This record gives sequence, structure tokens and C-alpha cells, in this order.
Amino acid sequence: MAKIGIFFGSSSGVTRGAAELLGEQFPGSELIDMEEDYDGVDQFEDFDVLILGSSTWGQGDPQRDWVDPLYELDNDRPDLSGKKVAFFGAGDQKTHGEHFVSALGKMHDLFVSLGAEAYGYTSTGGFDYEHSLAERDGKFCGLAFDDVNQEELTEERVISWASQLKSEMGL
Ligand SMILES: Cc1cc2nc3c(=O)[nH]c(=O)nc-3n(C[C@H](O)[C@H](O)[C@H](O)COP(=O)(O)O)c2cc1C
Repeated sequence: MAKIGIFFGSSSGVTRGAAELLGEQFPGSELIDMEEDYDGVDQFEDFDVLILGSSTWGQGDPQRDWVDPLYELDNDRPDLSGKKVAFFGAGDQKTHGEHFVSALGKMHDLFVSLGAEAYGYTSTGGFDYEHSLAERDGKFCGLAFDDVNQEELTEERVISWASQLKSEMGL
């Protein structure tokens, strides 16, 4: 059975909520809070499947608990080939519509550059924003959700994405 790690960074609990819901959808998976449970880049190598969550802050930046780990990954360049990876995270399409969920795009490009294979792209339909660094070929390179403006849609988005990942990854 594939070993699944759900790593998340969340400042006000929105991405954490999604991570916990994903944990229920993937029984046997391990939840790693980047603030409390993360202890170094080797931790990514422990899993076959990496489901990585970060909200977006500042000017399209990953959540603060991801900043050092992403820097270390980029420096150490561990070989993540053979690993399946997917990204999820909260944003605010109205107030921060010029950088909506851009953290997902930054994380995506780093993990793909380390050899991981990305899954779980989703439609940008249903969102209204100006610009996002998370777009690849007209889709988001992961799961976006927005509890500031569309809280009522988040649970369904997360559960449907979990089904998509199971099918795409053959889990
Ligand atoms: C100062 C500040 C900067 C933000 N910057 C962005 C941004 O660039 N892009 C975006 O999509 N959301 C942005 N947001 C919205 C947060 O990502 C959003 O509130 C999210 O729900 C936080 O999720 P978390 O609780 O998982 O950290 C920002 C919020 C604040 C307060």
C-alpha cells in the first residue's frame, strides 16, 4: 500500500481543515503540520505520495511554515523521482485576486524540478480572480479553495479532489 503524507502549513486554520478532511479520505495517511511535526527534508522521502497544502500570503508567497523547508529543498535538491505529488491550499480571490493561490504554483515547480510527478490539476471555473501563478495550461496545478468568499464550497471541493487523486494516482 502506498505511504501517503499530507504536509500542511496554515496560519488561521483553513488549509488545516482541508488537510484533516483529506486525512479522513485517505485512511492510513499521516498528517504533518509544518509548524509542529516537520523535522527536515528527509521527511519527504519517507512517503510514496506527497499531498502538500499551503495557503498563500504576502505577494503570492507560501505560508510561513513552508518558507524554510522550501528553501532547504531547493538547496539540498533531494531526488524525488518516483514520488507522486499534489498541491492544495486556501486563498482569497477578491482581496488578493492578483496572486490567487500563487503558492501552489511555486511549490509545484520546485517539487517537479526535484523529479516528483504532479497530479490533481483542477478547473479554474467557479473562481473570479485576476491572476494566479498556480495556473498551468489553463488549470490550477492543484486544488484551490477560498473560505473568505466561498466557504460553503470548500468541503465539496476537497472531497471531490480526493476522489480525483485516488483515481489519477491509482490508490
Ligand atoms: C496579509 C495577507 C496576505 C494575503 N495574501 C494572499 C495572496 O497573495 N493570495 C491569496 O490567494 N490569498 C492571500 N491571502 C488570503 C489567505 O490566504 C486566506 O485568508 C486563507 O484562507 C488563509 O488560510 P490558512 O488559514 O490556511 O493560512 C492573504 C491574507 C492576508 C491577511
